[in-house]
Amino acid sequence: MVNCEVETLFHLPSSVHLADYQRMGSYSYSSASVGVRNRIREALQLVRIARRPPESAVDWTIGLYENTKERIREQTGVTLSGLRGLEIGPGQQLGSLRCFSLENDMVAIDTDVIAAEASPLTYVRMVRHNSFLRTAKTIARKALGVDRRFRKTLLRRLGAPAFPTTPVLRMSATEMTFPQESFDFVYSHSVFEHIDDPAAALAEIERVLRPGGVAYVSVHLYTSHAGSHDPKLLADGIPVPPLWPHLRPAFAHTVHPNTYLNRLTLAEWRDLFEAAFPGVTYVADRQDEELGDALRELRAAGELTEYTDEELLTVNLIAIWRKPDGAEETAPRESGISMPRPSAEPDVGPQRRRASA
Ligand SMILES: C[S@@+](CC[C@H](N)C(=O)[O-])C[C@H]1O[C@@H](n2cnc3c(N)ncnc32)[C@H](O)[C@@H]1O
Repeated sequence: MVNCEVETLFHLPSSVHLADYQRMGSYSYSSASVGVRNRIREALQLVRIARRPPESAVDWTIGLYENTKERIREQTGVTLSGLRGLEIGPGQQLGSLRCFSLENDMVAIDTDVIAAEASPLTYVRMVRHNSFLRTAKTIARKALGVDRRFRKTLLRRLGAPAFPTTPVLRMSATEMTFPQESFDFVYSHSVFEHIDDPAAALAEIERVLRPGGVAYVSVHLYTSHAGSHDPKLLADGIPVPPLWPHLRPAFAHTVHPNTYLNRLTLAEWRDLFEAAFPGVTYVADRQDEELGDALRELRAAGELTEYTDEELLTVNLIAIWRKPDGAEETAPRESGISMPRPSAEPDVGPQRRRASA
């Protein structure tokens, strides 16, 4: 039986041209070649994850969601509720997208085919577009029940009867086919470090945001300890030596990214954000407590001298921007954006420093 959610997920809006999809061919952000041994290691890690109860992944997802809403409210005064939102690069588990969809009218785009539910048709599309190994990983995760348990636990914890069906379109952030000023907010987490032309993607966000709309773009910095995106460093969140292996010539051979990375530095990201989003503000997730002492020791030994403390200790650089609406001083907003509610927000969840897989 064809699953309705999957059908809806891949419905193309009339403004989207098939040629745009065909041009993307079989591009997948995880098409990096890492060798059989590392893929086997990834598979074993998947089995380990499958054995864990979903609670900690769900805690992390809800913490990220609450933090995002809180940070946007603090920086811009906007409350994310009752709005039209776009998520760029939700990934296969759709954690944030599902949270946002309970309070907002959401659409998501991803260059990979996203399988919200198990379906042979979706798997065929995944093999065509996502690379065989990534498809195998998704099928294994679904067969092991990881995604189903995650979704059910998330739903229960959020106290909702069901998640609304949300379209996830196959589209690149660098060439969106939405009309301009389509969204009240655009959200992206751990995606821009995988985009080869992030300036084009930021320009697209500016274009599709309506005046007064909000952009939230969180990038996982290449210069952070796990910035190499070797899955073994991303798995447990607790940094173990060798620290910053990809930046230290003696240890660079020990890490193997499983994905494309643009390797931009903190300063380069700031330049890009400031060019696209004038007046942008930043929030940073940092690892001073976990890694500050170790960094001082490495510095004393003459290591990592070409990097600043800030770029080594910042895991995520988060750019938050409200597009000017030209009527800030005088009139109430016409953009459909809710203003802050006085005090009725839930507490902010724990600040996790997990780097996403
Ligand atoms: C590391 S995953 C992040 C998933 C999720 N946002 C999270 O934080 O767990 C990166 C996602 O970005 C998607 N992606 C990479 N390049 C993209 C692009 N140019 N446009 C849209 N999505 C892209 C990938 O396919 C993948 O699903």
